[in-house]
Amino acid sequence: LADPSKHHFLHVNDLTSSQLSKLLQIALEMKLELKQLGKYRTKPLDGKTLAMIFAKPSARTRISFETGMYLLGGHALYLGEEVGIGKREAVKDVARVVSSMNDTIMARLYAHSDLLELARFSKVPVINGLTDYNHPCQIIADALTILEEKKRLQGVKVVYIGDGNNIVHSWLELTSLVELEFTCCCPEGYEPNPTLLDLVNRSHRGKASIEYDPWKAVVGADVIYTDVWASMGQKSSLQQRMEVFSPYQVTMDLMKASQNKDTIFMHCLPAERGRECDDKVMESHNSKVFQQAENRMHAQNAILLYCHGILNNQLV
Ligand code: CP
Ligand code: NVA
Repeated sequence: LADPSKHHFLHVNDLTSSQLSKLLQIALEMKLELKQLGKYRTKPLDGKTLAMIFAKPSARTRISFETGMYLLGGHALYLGEEVGIGKREAVKDVARVVSSMNDTIMARLYAHSDLLELARFSKVPVINGLTDYNHPCQIIADALTILEEKKRLQGVKVVYIGDGNNIVHSWLELTSLVELEFTCCCPEGYEPNPTLLDLVNRSHRGKASIEYDPWKAVVGADVIYTDVWASMGQKSSLQQRMEVFSPYQVTMDLMKASQNKDTIFMHCLPAERGRECDDKVMESHNSKVFQQAENRMHAQNAILLYCHGILNNQLV
């Protein structure tokens, strides 16, 4: 990026540990201000635009960015599949065109390499709205939710049950920055990328492990987290995946097996009720899934300010 005060946000660990904790603190303060006043005191993104490129469907990501930009004083444009990024037009050409008329880009793409190329050729900050590889905005919102619920991230035990997918990769990115304990409990053959497990181990911050038995994995969990068994782009393998993943459904019995009455249930949504989690778990008192969804906007509003270089004085 030509302007060194501006930043892309492509991975959770694009931030340092101290930037992350300050960003979360600012997100909490901005949420409080919005709740108290019904709006922000100032319009820090007055006159700014965010182009949102979606190669995959979305509810939360579109809603949170579009409403968030309005609240910050700016405007968001929805660009759907008709843009044909990497198909109708080369990724680097889309990057140059979109960044010539907008102040920020948010993109939800299939290949992570396409997102990296978009960022390389864009003149303006690019925010990752999910790729096949990771989903950093989601995990920042999840960290905010855990902070609200548990008042800390340090020492929290997060047990993810299901596919070692993009959500898990961003959890591992977070675990490389924060002293939390993260376990991915998945069937054999569905583990996350080992490079990210190495990243956590080398970070000497959090601890990450793989476990195959959900009943063992959940003991002592503060958070039990799940996601769909077939992500966007994998729906054709759903039948086969349903068999492999059936022992990994989060039920009330599995929640109780944590032996901790304060274990919270989290899911990035959208959920397939009756598959990866049952209805009772989703509706239970311990379920924080809708707080997580709302926190997408609060977290991303702080991320937007970070990308625009507005939080830089505080995010040393
Ligand atoms: N969690 C999440 O990213 O939701 P959407 O796919 O609806 O945007
Ligand atoms: N793993 C899911 C997350 C959706 C927010 C997917 O990629 O479809």
